[in-house]
Amino acid sequence: MLTDKPRMSVFGLGYVGTVTAACFAYKGFNVVAFDVDKGKVESLNQAISFIYEPELDEIIKQAVSSGSLKATYNPNYAIMNSDITFITVGTPQKVDGKIDLRYVEDASRMIGKALKDKDDWHLVVVKSTVIPGTTNNVVKKNIEEVSGKTCDRDFGICFNPEFLREGAAVHDMFYPDRLIIGGSEKSSSYLLNLYNMFYGEKMPETIITNAENAELIKYANNAFLAMKVSFINMIARICQKIPKGDVEVVAKGIGLDKRIGSLFLKAGAGWGGSCWPKDLSALKKFAEEIGLELPLVDATIEINKTQPLILIDFAKELIGSLEGKRISILGLSFKPNTDDMREAVSIKIIESLLKEGAEVIAYDPKAMDNAKKIFGKKIIYANNSIECLKGADCAMIVTEWDEFKNLKPEDFINNMRNPALIDGRRIYDPKIFSSKLKFKAIGLGE
Ligand code: UGA
Repeated sequence: MLTDKPRMSVFGLGYVGTVTAACFAYKGFNVVAFDVDKGKVESLNQAISFIYEPELDEIIKQAVSSGSLKATYNPNYAIMNSDITFITVGTPQKVDGKIDLRYVEDASRMIGKALKDKDDWHLVVVKSTVIPGTTNNVVKKNIEEVSGKTCDRDFGICFNPEFLREGAAVHDMFYPDRLIIGGSEKSSSYLLNLYNMFYGEKMPETIITNAENAELIKYANNAFLAMKVSFINMIARICQKIPKGDVEVVAKGIGLDKRIGSLFLKAGAGWGGSCWPKDLSALKKFAEEIGLELPLVDATIEINKTQPLILIDFAKELIGSLEGKRISILGLSFKPNTDDMREAVSIKIIESLLKEGAEVIAYDPKAMDNAKKIFGKKIIYANNSIECLKGADCAMIVTEWDEFKNLKPEDFINNMRNPALIDGRRIYDPKIFSSKLKFKAIGLGE
């Protein structure tokens, strides 16, 4: 049983690594954050966050100024000054859709190299999303090979998935629904103790299992949530064909059934982000390798491929040909409260509009810099929502930022050349809006 707070290191400063390192350090744990990117390391040491995430800036400032959070690009220093290492590197998608484990391999070799010279027992915790078997067959194997040490006797290993949502990652870190720990008895109880110290009386329900089950839980979780969203988007298509059909009412009706639940039943222009698209693809490829088909995952992906294009069809129904028309896009990030545009549906929508010969003007409260990297001079960038609407022939709500929810019908009527609005995220009251301007919304029948 641990009595002193273990010292931690975190390998990989993406969303998960940065939030994990900062939150543990904020709670008084000594944390060394490691990344190969010197820019990130220097930035963190100056208490400057390089990602946009609500509440994170303040947490980083406090953790760095109290001396509990330090960043380094020296992996040996990180290992020598910690008892537990979290691997939080990215697991992107290869061109063929399979999981790309190169960063996990690099991190485990670096850890193995450093552990060679370390006498004390050390726990390695894989948090990166990896297909079943990776923790034992890749991470453990690499560490044993490079360090010459034996797992369990000289060091321990666990898989411990993260369920942090971008835009709510700090909240999710402090108030998780549950913890999943996959590893041997010794390793799991060491990690459990760490979390007991972190959460105290608020310790969430915990499932302790083997690494393979824990690895699959992460994929099953993301696939199920994506399936739920694609399901309601499928139902939204039915609602669009029924007079006075409304997916919001249908979602509420089924969501009240406790067996279904109301969360993740918001119909919209489709799902994106840095996790679901690559995780569903990796799961499909993994299943193929073990001789299985995943028809529910296929359907989930398939529905999402065409969902954003419904907005293009709606625009044509409202204003005819899009050639030469100015279309205003409100929202670019893959969801609100983040600047992340990875696999955002806005990209697909804008590309389709450009193909149709439309002129696109776009605005997002946080993602403008990322949008400029993607679209360059192909589109026009507005400084605020009203500027984005000026002179437009049709406006589309693509991300449900709070500031768009405050827009009134008059904002569209008074600023657009032709007030036609498509609510791709169901943020407006259809009764009010459709009585004042040309209006269409996902999951809304005529
Ligand atoms: C997701 C999971 O929710 C996290 O638990 C997990 O840790 C994370 O992936 C990961 O694997 O790292 P995230 O991608 O940040 O988190 O975003 P979500 O909030 O899950 O939303 C995913 C997408 O679904 C977004 O594009 C969002 O707009 C869309 N969505 C979500 C809907 O269209 N409707 C909904 O009801 C919910």
